[in-house]
Amino acid sequence: MTAYPKTSALMRRGSEFLGSEHAILCGAMSWVSERNLVSAISNAGGFGVIACGAMTPELLDAEIAATKALTVKPFGVNLITMHPDLFELIEVCGKHSVGHVVLAGGIPPKGSVEAIKAFGAKVIVFAPTLALAKKLLRSGGDALVIEGMEAGGHIGPVATSVLAQEFLPELAEEHVVFVAGGIGRGEAMAGYLEMGAVGVQLGTRFACATESIAHPDFKKAFFRANARDAVASVQIDPRLPVIPVRALKNKGTEEFTAKQREVANLLDAGSVDMGEAQLLIERFWAGALRRAVIDGDVENGSLMAGQSVGMVSKEEPVPEIIASLMAESEAALNRR
Ligand SMILES: Cc1cc2nc3c(=O)[nH]c(=O)nc-3n(C[C@H](O)[C@H](O)[C@H](O)COP(=O)(O)O)c2cc1C
Repeated sequence: MTAYPKTSALMRRGSEFLGSEHAILCGAMSWVSERNLVSAISNAGGFGVIACGAMTPELLDAEIAATKALTVKPFGVNLITMHPDLFELIEVCGKHSVGHVVLAGGIPPKGSVEAIKAFGAKVIVFAPTLALAKKLLRSGGDALVIEGMEAGGHIGPVATSVLAQEFLPELAEEHVVFVAGGIGRGEAMAGYLEMGAVGVQLGTRFACATESIAHPDFKKAFFRANARDAVASVQIDPRLPVIPVRALKNKGTEEFTAKQREVANLLDAGSVDMGEAQLLIERFWAGALRRAVIDGDVENGSLMAGQSVGMVSKEEPVPEIIASLMAESEAALNRR
């Protein structure tokens, strides 16, 4: 008997799909979602996801093995589709019989979904439009995450509330759909579950958990910040389309403007093509995020955070965060 019968009933398909007690994913966060946070989330009944980010296949291999040593519960691995070693990374997931692979950062390249399914794992995809979501679900995607612009990290242009209204009525009955972006409390979770989502994904709310290895200064910046401090980066050159990133305002935000100018000049000079230009931009983010999360350089590093950062005011253990989300959701559903 669950302590949260109404919420658990609405999450049933999601929990069955993930193999976890609650259908609450902790979205992969580069540098943050490593063995400690991932295992803590899964051990607390949620579903942790390792952020592969720019890791080499060797590093991912070691991270998965170390996570397995800390939990016997299921967890997933998030791979960025533009990673140059994507297929080797998929092989590493296969070697460890990872049950769920999340493909993020763009349309999965040809053969990647098939390569994941070949070792029996489930594929979780992101899609910015309904048409693309349908296509990905037809061509092998087993579940979908819809993520609104309130989220931390790389974002699309549309709010979670609007995406949920567009996607859920069309897809929720037949498909496994999780909602992400801007969820800070269980009441919001309950709302999306009632609309047909089978579960939710949160990042910002978990980034400063006690079990997160993020630097104490990174955590302090989150505790101090309000929703309005988590701003989306601005594209300065129309020829260089950059995916916006939501992060707390600091000097690093300004450095990104300078970086875009530098890369646009390289494009003009013909010394890089568009694909290389985008990789340079992504490498900038990976480096900047590392400086903030690991080194605690909250001035110059990137403090990727979603608008729900205003609801994060102290360090809390993962089991307490999950319990309060479930309790808030249950209380909201009981009031209906
Ligand atoms: C610090 C940080 C780093 C992130 N890094 C990644 C990443 O490497 N890959 C990815 O797919 N999503 C990344 N995200 C997005 C999260 O996985 C998640 O979808 C998002 O945080 C959910 O929205 P929320 O922040 O409003 O809870 C990141 C988010 C944050 C806050």
